[in-house]
Amino acid sequence: MVQEKLTLSVIKADVGGFVGHSDVHPELLAKAEEELAKAKSSGLIIDYCRSKVGDDIALIMTHRKGTDSAEIHEFAWDTFEKATEVAKKLSQYGAGQDLLSDGFSGNIKGMGPGVAEMSFLERPSEPVLIFLADKTEPGAWNYPLYKMFCDPFNTIGLVIDPKMSMGFKLRVDDLVENKKVVFSCPEEIYDLLVFIGAPSRFVVNEVYTKETGEIAAASSTQKLNLIAGRYVGKDDPVLIVRCQSGLPAVGEVLEPFSMPHIVAGWMRGSSHGPLMPVSTKQDTPARFDGPPRVVSLGFQIADGHLIGPRDMFDDPSFDNSRQQALDMADYLRRHGPFEPARLPLEEMEYTTMPQVMARLKDRFEPAT
Ligand code: 13P
Ligand code: 13P
Ligand code: MG
Ligand code: MG
Repeated sequence: MVQEKLTLSVIKADVGGFVGHSDVHPELLAKAEEELAKAKSSGLIIDYCRSKVGDDIALIMTHRKGTDSAEIHEFAWDTFEKATEVAKKLSQYGAGQDLLSDGFSGNIKGMGPGVAEMSFLERPSEPVLIFLADKTEPGAWNYPLYKMFCDPFNTIGLVIDPKMSMGFKLRVDDLVENKKVVFSCPEEIYDLLVFIGAPSRFVVNEVYTKETGEIAAASSTQKLNLIAGRYVGKDDPVLIVRCQSGLPAVGEVLEPFSMPHIVAGWMRGSSHGPLMPVSTKQDTPARFDGPPRVVSLGFQIADGHLIGPRDMFDDPSFDNSRQQALDMADYLRRHGPFEPARLPLEEMEYTTMPQVMARLKDRFEPAT
């Protein structure tokens, strides 16, 4: 019998914050859970895990309908709309924040929610890590994905596992020009870094094995401000990474997060801050609406079922990273409204800054 491909879809949205942008009210989570349970019993999906990070709800689903399935996307959209109704009833902050369209139209990508999906033939043992981040943008995954798949100082498997020494292919999307390019690594890492070192525009979208073109990682690349043309909160991206047996080991996939690298997001989506790896118990950004944070949910997939999650950053081995992130947060905060704590001017164009500029424009006179 030919084995059918399994699709793993992670779709997340902020449909209202409790309180401010710090958490999700339990009644919204209960609504999402109720809808997911119905979808499972109707056979639309095989299994699910209802998750969250900060003020974002994540629907983690397995099914056999492939990526970009209108049925799955419509279900996610409807679920977020139903959760929005609950959010409105409870006057949650920014109810319906990420639902940028009046109604569903075929594919949820480009309508506000963040989407990461991949289809694959399930291996005899299929360990998968799902990362959910709050108060940051899709380019936040560039650094860790580079470390996982291209850097032997992070992933020693690239050196000592013959199944990995060929390297990987990374697809990079240009979010401004709406183009994509594939880099073959390690041969092209210098060219790759020219682009992904600028994470506000160039984003690693997918990673493949070289030999078979098997999918290894997929991220969400939707940027809310580019969709809406104005400030509507940060994108708060998601990432799926398959692990082991010719792919980076679980520990190699987690390792890049020991360095709390600086990402765009944090307060009003207008600041730079360290990405702090946290347990799901600590996924509630408070200080200055942050600092930005990431949770990691581990699953073993068994015949389409999500065995898990394990809360991967709920481990003292990340305590030093958290402490370092807090020290960096202190240092950056002391800059107040000065760059580089504040994002550069071109990024501020998507906040309320143009309104301030418009108010003052007549005050400017020729300087000569
Ligand atoms: P695999 O090659 O089975 O993934 O084993 C590597 C490993 O687990 C090292 O930590
Ligand atoms: P979210 O993108 O998580 O809603 O945060 C927006 C914000 O303005 C935080 O200060
Ligand atoms: Mg919010
Ligand atoms: Mg958020």
